[in-house]
Amino acid sequence: DTKGLKDYYKDYFSIGVAVNPRMLDAGAEADLILTQFNSMTAENAMKMGPIHPEENRYNWEPADKIAEFAVKNGLKLRGHTLCWHNQTPNWLFTDAEGKQVSKEVLLARLKKHIFEVVNRYKGAIYAWDVVNEAVPDGNGTEIYRKSKFYEIIGEEYIELAFRYAHEADPNAQLFYNDYNTEDKVKREKIYQLVKGLLDKGVPIHGVGLQGHWSLYEPTAQELEESITKFASLGLKVQITELDVSVYPKEHTSRERKDTDKAEFTPEMNNKQAAHYKMLFEIFRKHKDKISGVTFWNLSDRYSWLDNFPVRGRKDFPLLFDQNHQPKKAFWEVVKF
Ligand code: XIL
Repeated sequence: DTKGLKDYYKDYFSIGVAVNPRMLDAGAEADLILTQFNSMTAENAMKMGPIHPEENRYNWEPADKIAEFAVKNGLKLRGHTLCWHNQTPNWLFTDAEGKQVSKEVLLARLKKHIFEVVNRYKGAIYAWDVVNEAVPDGNGTEIYRKSKFYEIIGEEYIELAFRYAHEADPNAQLFYNDYNTEDKVKREKIYQLVKGLLDKGVPIHGVGLQGHWSLYEPTAQELEESITKFASLGLKVQITELDVSVYPKEHTSRERKDTDKAEFTPEMNNKQAAHYKMLFEIFRKHKDKISGVTFWNLSDRYSWLDNFPVRGRKDFPLLFDQNHQPKKAFWEVVKF
């Protein structure tokens, strides 16, 4: 059977996968990508640290390889990401003497970075996560994460990043992307942030819900509330980094728990299948609002969750197992 996720979902939304360049060499992984998916995101290769490690040096090769694969095989490509507090090189914030740069210098560097990267992949990339994770977690009232961008530039770094990206590629869809978007307090803050941008006429076209979830969250209701709330602003919604960890949310400390056996039990398999079934029922129900769903990696062979939040704790968050075979969750997702 060569019918893939993308075929089941052709009347709904695109189905994407986060990739690293090594997967794209001819072989089982590239085959799986091509049978199952019609969209890709670079898992790391387009982030500022990897692609722009020094002020006057860009590392284009890994990202170029991904873009060439997408274009050659007719897959959509999402760009991830232009402005984030993680995986951002230190040079960006410091001068030759190691002192923190001024607002003007940082803005000029950010603009140059955005122009260079967006320009290079113009035509290949149809949507960019312009700003990633700018809103803090927790119950505080502060809308802005105290990142270096915020500390040096102030809140307008967000608006300006979108304006630069739009200037560089007026045809690209520009997204604000974040996690924990089902948390009521954080969702409200993101909503206020995005609404504020729209009210100012800032070019923003969508909100990315990362979708780093677990067997225990989100509930159907929380998910629906997020989708409808952001769509009510007239924005596109995408699920940009979907995975369903088999570990309970409270196991988010960096300590491994006795119960974390690094074993994919039948119970986890069943629970995960039921959870994915619920998630995709909601996505399908809101297909008029959702334009893409992207998985954060190809199969359980590789997942960033193997090292997050607990280093070296194997997780099993995806639809394909460590041998790239469909799991029970896969069959629930395509049964409708
Ligand atoms: C992760 C990658 O998957 C890892 O390989 C890397 O070490 C750290 O970043 N939110 C995001 C993604 O927006 O960029 C992150 O990706 C996962 C959380």
